[in-house]
Amino acid sequence: MTQALKIRRLAGALGAEILGVDLSQELPAGTIAAIRQAFVEHQVIFFRDQALTPAQQMAFGARFGPLNIHPYVSGMADHPPVMEVIKEPEDRINFGGGWHSDMSFLERPAIGSILYAVDIPEFGGDTLFASQAAAFDALSPGLQRTLESLNAVHSAAREYSAEGNSAQKRKSMAIAEADGLAGEYVHPMVLVHPESGRKALYVNPAFTIKIQGWKTSESKALLEYLFEHCRYEGFTCRFDWRPGSVAFWDNRSVWHFALNDYHRQRRHMRRVTVDPWPVGAAGARFVEGVA
Ligand code: SIN
Repeated sequence: MTQALKIRRLAGALGAEILGVDLSQELPAGTIAAIRQAFVEHQVIFFRDQALTPAQQMAFGARFGPLNIHPYVSGMADHPPVMEVIKEPEDRINFGGGWHSDMSFLERPAIGSILYAVDIPEFGGDTLFASQAAAFDALSPGLQRTLESLNAVHSAAREYSAEGNSAQKRKSMAIAEADGLAGEYVHPMVLVHPESGRKALYVNPAFTIKIQGWKTSESKALLEYLFEHCRYEGFTCRFDWRPGSVAFWDNRSVWHFALNDYHRQRRHMRRVTVDPWPVGAAGARFVEGVA
């Protein structure tokens, strides 16, 4: 049975804080089902005052699906699915400092990401989130229908190439370059959420490289229009981290952007990323809407 949660919404389009849950515990199935329901409904959910070891963060994430091993960013030596997202005082660039949807460059993109704050700067370092479901809803029915008939090509090549922001050398994170390795994967430009049925735009400035079957110039024009539209402030919420805060966002309907406004300070987060269940797996019942 799904357990009722105390939920406080943060903004009009997306985002809610969940109160009174200790994520370090092995939570009953009813609580996990309620968290999953809140995650799908609010698109990004937040928890405060948690104390999670890497193993506990992995155990919580694994309740929602298999954990992803990032193809370019090294995980912790003893906990490979846990990525340490760190900016040291001497680093200039941060990780995730542009609008994106995690792992859209994979054949089966991640469904969610769970980020835990270890060390937070005295000021700055917030993360922005933008609802791509709200962005889709706000388009005209005509453009919605056009986009629903289109697919886009996604790749890590640009972002993780030698010049790409994500692969820039830094003291704090071990990130490989994707040159020659990154594949191209085609996804619908509008995703129908497998759990809620709600439609969302599924293109992002970091990893969407073109519209399938369109000329580069045509593709660029429409994608630029959409990227501008998708980050309208009415579709966003902003989260101010404290040590022990957790954000869990739905990559199928949310973009996020880690603000880089805290130079000469340290910020240290840990992320686990949840993949979709393999088709037909026991846990896939969530995706099929049975649970
Ligand atoms: C990320 O893009 O996963 C990092 C987000 C953040 O550090 O706020």
